[in-house]
Amino acid sequence: MSAEDAEIVLLPGDGIGPEVGAAAVRLLEALGGTHVTEHPIGGASIDAHGTALTDEVLAACRAADAVLLCAVGGPKWDTTDPDAPRPEQGLLGLRKGMGLFANLRPVRPSAALLDASPLKRDRIEGTDLLVVRELTGGIYFGDSGRDGERAHDDCAYTVEEVTRIGRVAFSAAASRPGGDTGAAKVTSVDKANVLETSRLWRETVESVAADEFAEIPLEHLLVDNAAMQLVSRPADFDVILTENLFGDILSDEAAMLTGSLGMLPSASLGKDGPGLFEPVHGSAPDIAGQGMANPLATFLSVALMLRHGLERHQGAARVEQAVDAVLERGLRTADLSGGDGTREVGTDEMTEAVLAAL
Ligand code: IPM
Ligand code: MG
Repeated sequence: MSAEDAEIVLLPGDGIGPEVGAAAVRLLEALGGTHVTEHPIGGASIDAHGTALTDEVLAACRAADAVLLCAVGGPKWDTTDPDAPRPEQGLLGLRKGMGLFANLRPVRPSAALLDASPLKRDRIEGTDLLVVRELTGGIYFGDSGRDGERAHDDCAYTVEEVTRIGRVAFSAAASRPGGDTGAAKVTSVDKANVLETSRLWRETVESVAADEFAEIPLEHLLVDNAAMQLVSRPADFDVILTENLFGDILSDEAAMLTGSLGMLPSASLGKDGPGLFEPVHGSAPDIAGQGMANPLATFLSVALMLRHGLERHQGAARVEQAVDAVLERGLRTADLSGGDGTREVGTDEMTEAVLAAL
């Protein structure tokens, strides 16, 4: 390790997390310039410490240059008891504790996977979109509770929260290549026909656009309509800006456009301080420990970490190109449907192929 090495906290978590985490460590070693420290999170932390996120682990994450999280959760810790610890609290605690209000989920199906998408090739071709999800507000962090036969989860947003995530989306659109009009557009998704938070959201997004980003095209979609448009004309979207819960749902839908949830990376960023990078997929307990997990979403999350967290743009591009290259060569993990000229491989062989292609 050298003094200039970036300090990475790795949180492998649960299920397939440790397997794809170990693959990520090999990738980071091959790239050089980082020093990795591992800590438990989620179910693993509940087993060891009785809580999904300890103060020590949160402090280590805050002190790092970047955090790589693999996956949390599993049937072992599933419960509806409101007083029992849940693995997801580790992730939510990190998001809040590190101030990670902006979640970026780029969806760009690899050319080699176009036929793995559940959509027909001509629908999916040209899809290159970014979901910008608000991550520390809304119903995820509102007051919630149970009172006998009644339960509630409150949803609240402030102008400040919407403004700062709006700026992230417009800035991202400004730095993306555009479509027909030459400028990438922002599609803001809400439920303004029903929800007061959505009306505040829409008004605030309008005013950020008018005051600061007048050159960026802006449209609004209701979330139910957006869910439908996303599968009927995915290539028409550039940047999708939305609140926490809608972003959770739409990003899984958007991820599947790429053929598998096993392909999608994400970056969670705050105002300053380290970012958190994680695959969008979950802990996949059904295939854990079998050496068949797809490590590519984690590798692509490492690429986002290099780009957004460590300003190592060349390294990021190397990882992305290596992933594309192994897919071009026909290597597929079990989650990616095969076809002519493809060969099914496990986590290790996929990892080795990416390292060789770097
Ligand atoms: C995600 C996940 C999390 C979320 C869960 C694990 C709490 O689904 O990152 O999309 O709902 O935000
Ligand atoms: Mg989700």
